[in-house]
Amino acid sequence: MVSKATLLAVFLVMVLSLITRQGGARRHLLPPVCQTWNSTTVVCRRQAISQFSSDFRSTLTRIPPGIPKSITTLDLSGNNITDLHKDSFNELRNLQYLVLSGIYLRTIEDGAFAQLENLKELQLCYPSNATNEDVFKGLSNLRYLHLDLNNVGCLSDHAFVSLTSLENLAIVEISGLEDRTRLFERLSLWSPLTELEFLSLSVHRDSEINFGPVFRYFSNLHTIEIKLLEPVSMNVTVRMLQPLSPHLQHLDLRLLKDEDSDISIDHGDLLIEHGVLESLTNLQTLHLPRVPFSSIADVLPELRHTQIEELLFYSHGIDAITSETLAVIDNLENLKILSLLTTRQAARV
Ligand SMILES: *[C@@H]1O[C@H](CO)[C@@H](O)[C@H](O)[C@H]1NC(C)=O
Ligand SMILES: *[C@@H]1O[C@H](CO)[C@@H](O)[C@H](O)[C@H]1NC(C)=O
Ligand SMILES: *[C@@H]1O[C@H](CO)[C@@H](O)[C@H](O)[C@H]1NC(C)=O
Ligand SMILES: *[C@@H]1O[C@H](CO)[C@@H](O)[C@H](O)[C@H]1NC(C)=O
Repeated sequence: MVSKATLLAVFLVMVLSLITRQGGARRHLLPPVCQTWNSTTVVCRRQAISQFSSDFRSTLTRIPPGIPKSITTLDLSGNNITDLHKDSFNELRNLQYLVLSGIYLRTIEDGAFAQLENLKELQLCYPSNATNEDVFKGLSNLRYLHLDLNNVGCLSDHAFVSLTSLENLAIVEISGLEDRTRLFERLSLWSPLTELEFLSLSVHRDSEINFGPVFRYFSNLHTIEIKLLEPVSMNVTVRMLQPLSPHLQHLDLRLLKDEDSDISIDHGDLLIEHGVLESLTNLQTLHLPRVPFSSIADVLPELRHTQIEELLFYSHGIDAITSETLAVIDNLENLKILSLLTTRQAARV
């Protein structure tokens, strides 16, 4: 006969082994591999061995098994996962945030995201050789998409066809795009994105950005951010922004290199053609954090045709502000905030 004490002992051993197994699993899953693993969040990012090291811990080569079905956030950035399959995210129907940045995928099987009808946010490095037609199939509730792109040629004309709720799109060229096919002029690519409000582009040298006529119909598109990843010159022309100029409220043009370092404007410059600012009749915010006053002084008076409330540009120290500067902005009736960026910090006037 089995005594109560024996039963209790057996029970305790079972509990203990469960705890140690979980503890063991934890010890395996927590660094070097996973940082968080609970019922709502799984984070398994590639991590440096220490704060001071550029060596990395070993990475995942596939999506880890046993992810709780209840999770809303999954972050696998930086891992060495090469393919997404149709069942990669099966059953993760509650997922709202999926971060796959820094994963250089070779393929995404059609329907890989099809189960994720609650997904709101996706960050993805798009495979250079993808041939998918409707790669984001099922993501009809997606609000935010961050796409790292190597090769725009691989974005099929129907790539965005399912993204009918998309509000915020960020595109980052991860190397100079070789196969540049007038990306922003492709009618069938862009036409599904009727809800788009915010577009952020980080581009390399010589990128051709001309927003095609399809952008005329995006009446919600109020904010454009263009970041140059290399200190090169960019000529912002009337033709480039024309289709979206009636809707645009916020425009931010900047060099992205070393946000934190002292501002260097020696190598790059943003030129704004005459007529650009004038055409932006609903513009409220203009941020030109790397553009010196001297190179925009002659176009700034055009801002009187806009609704400008907030203006930010670069100045060689506060001493560079003269009565001439102030004269330029004198008749901007709605202007509330003028920020002059010197080095490192903005001085509010
Ligand atoms: C899971 O971990 C995340 C991040 O640490 C935390 O914010 C969240 O509250 C945790 N959820 C549960 C159910 O413990
Ligand atoms: C990534 O995984 C592949 C095999 O799946 C392997 O050949 C390659 O060396 C791995 N790369 C890194 C950086 O670990
Ligand atoms: C993409 O295709 C090219 C040519 O077929 C090949 O050389 C390259 O290795 C492929 N890249 C990847 C990431 O599979
Ligand atoms: C900028 O573009 C306009 C129109 O294409 C052209 O007239 C002007 O010369 C260009 N400026 C520079 C510096 O490239």
